[in-house]
Amino acid sequence: MEFPSLRDHNLEGKRVLLRVDINSPIDPRSMEILDDLRIRGHLPTLQALEKSKVAIMAHQSRPGLEDFTTLEKHARRIEELLGRRVKYVDDVFGAAAREEISKLRDGEILVLENVRFCSEEVSDEVTSKPPREQAKTNFVRKLASYVEFFVNDAFAVSHRSQPSVVAFPTVLPSCAGLLMEKEVVNLSRVIESAERPKVFSFGGTKAGDSISVIKSLLDRGIADAVLTSGLVANIFLAARGVEIGAENMETLAKKKLDGQISKARELLEKYGERIVLPMDLAFQGDEGREEAPLADLPNRKVLDIGVETIAQYSKVVREARVVVANGPCGVFESAPFALGTEELVRSIAQRKAFSVIGGGHLSAIAGSLKVAKSVSYISTGGKATLSFLAGEKLPGIEALQGSRKP
Ligand code: 3PG
Repeated sequence: MEFPSLRDHNLEGKRVLLRVDINSPIDPRSMEILDDLRIRGHLPTLQALEKSKVAIMAHQSRPGLEDFTTLEKHARRIEELLGRRVKYVDDVFGAAAREEISKLRDGEILVLENVRFCSEEVSDEVTSKPPREQAKTNFVRKLASYVEFFVNDAFAVSHRSQPSVVAFPTVLPSCAGLLMEKEVVNLSRVIESAERPKVFSFGGTKAGDSISVIKSLLDRGIADAVLTSGLVANIFLAARGVEIGAENMETLAKKKLDGQISKARELLEKYGERIVLPMDLAFQGDEGREEAPLADLPNRKVLDIGVETIAQYSKVVREARVVVANGPCGVFESAPFALGTEELVRSIAQRKAFSVIGGGHLSAIAGSLKVAKSVSYISTGGKATLSFLAGEKLPGIEALQGSRKP
């Protein structure tokens, strides 16, 4: 490992600040947690710390969004999953939080309030500074003086340069938690494995980020084939001159993705058929799902890839030795248009290749199809996973690499 690991430290009896990423989908009406994949991902680290005094630090959503809320329910869910009492305090670093941290006994766990309630965590003025400067915030100084060790298990937020992610390793002996380690090991295997062909599938809504990753994977000679769907496919189809219809072009413009078309054109010119585009697409018709070939697309919103494309993509996946999928192929929330995404996940699970799926949507589908166990690794990261695959340096990982020695 390029950074210190929890396996190398005996933290028994130590007061540990543990950064996790339990940012989860929340029902806007009931404010209940809809999927606990990320929470479950941290259980091995919590179990490994069962003889320490653990204060958990985490975020939920961002200021201004409707799921920007307290971590009280997350604390209850950790308690249920772990089968051990978990305390919660509605404070991040104030007197109440510090008192609860100092009262912790061996084996006890305390969840601090949403760290993004704290203005220093999210202010541009702070986050634009290097980690050592971020460590001078009140938030970091106060919390750091109440703990002896920092464990970062929050791979999914390691692409952010925010005090809770990058500042503590500058002032506390620190290491990576077991989930952080697992993410880095599995995603590195995707990049470094000599097994070929390596096939990547990109769909979903983070199309701008996906195009940057596709470029990087192709430029570095890592991807042998890139399957495209959803908005990513619409961008490539428009770049190839296919008439995808005014409605789909407007969606690209509204999402400020029309600027990606010229980038996609350059990639198509350079890498040709390694970038695989749909042959047919699915739409809402009068009687339900309707499909059309590229030469005859209606002026309607694209909702899924068509069955010819599904067959072709499944064939490419069947031949892969390494396969990575990020983002759904269509509007999978609506049953008739879940077909492409479900078939993609099924074919990945059936293939005896090293397989990774990323993003909450695909992992939820793998769960509902009961094939999650047949996928080699399910990454908990969204943007962090994409950035890692693109070969970018992640601030949270860099901070651990340069962390204070015990
Ligand atoms: C995520 O959901 O990708 C992580 O929790 C990071 O969240 P953010 O994009 O709001 O920083």
